[in-house]
Amino acid sequence: MSQTPDQAPSKAKATRFSPPVAVLFDAYGTLFDVYSVGLLAEQLFPGHGQTLSVLWRDKQIEYTRLVTTSNHGAHYQPFWNLTRSALVYAIKKIVAPEESTKTSAQFDQNYGGQVEKLMNQYRHLSAFPENREVLQALKDRGVRTGILSNGDAGMLNLAVKSAGLDGLLDHVISVDPVRKFKTHPDAYALGAQTLGLTPEQIGFVSCNAWDALGATWFGYQTLWVNRYRLPFEELGTQPTRTGSSLRDVLDFFPTSS
Ligand code: LAC
Repeated sequence: MSQTPDQAPSKAKATRFSPPVAVLFDAYGTLFDVYSVGLLAEQLFPGHGQTLSVLWRDKQIEYTRLVTTSNHGAHYQPFWNLTRSALVYAIKKIVAPEESTKTSAQFDQNYGGQVEKLMNQYRHLSAFPENREVLQALKDRGVRTGILSNGDAGMLNLAVKSAGLDGLLDHVISVDPVRKFKTHPDAYALGAQTLGLTPEQIGFVSCNAWDALGATWFGYQTLWVNRYRLPFEELGTQPTRTGSSLRDVLDFFPTSS
């Protein structure tokens, strides 16, 4: 169910729906801090860590859209592969433009070690500090919780484990079985199907404005966690709620003890 600009995002107006009975979280950038790889990137490529990690993330998301929208999905690759390709692109663009004219074997010889180190760091991202306590509070309130992510199952399960969040999430849902990335509706639908609920019965939480917007358009009740004081997408629809940390998800459950 889409929202018009009139139905905009203040907390007071967020009671238009009944409170959700379950919550799905985006993973990368929402539960796991993707920019924490910047530190390692800075060690490996002094002076370029921040720029490299931001381009890496942007290119990764661009690739998800490219393979989802082109040629009826014929070029789909799991998120892990796209993440690696995006890193290779970012290194070539930011650090090593001379590599662009060489073979991939030569690139691997020159930069393969750094690529593997950064990919390994991506496997073990830090969680944001409030996550555990928020997931525990949701569990205490009897709210079902899960991840709905572009990540493939292997990388998600490892990330959950290494961030110490296992046991606190009821579902870890990857879009991989539908071979389409968010914001494709089939990807969002997987969350509601898995939970056996309608989208309106589910709160969807993302720090990524584009993801909060896609989920709102799909029909979820949404919380955009705006950690970095960014503007929301300028496309006329607002998320159901806006907050500044994962704690704000608890506002979806005002009557809970
Ligand atoms: C995810 C990316 C989009 O976890 O953050 O789905």
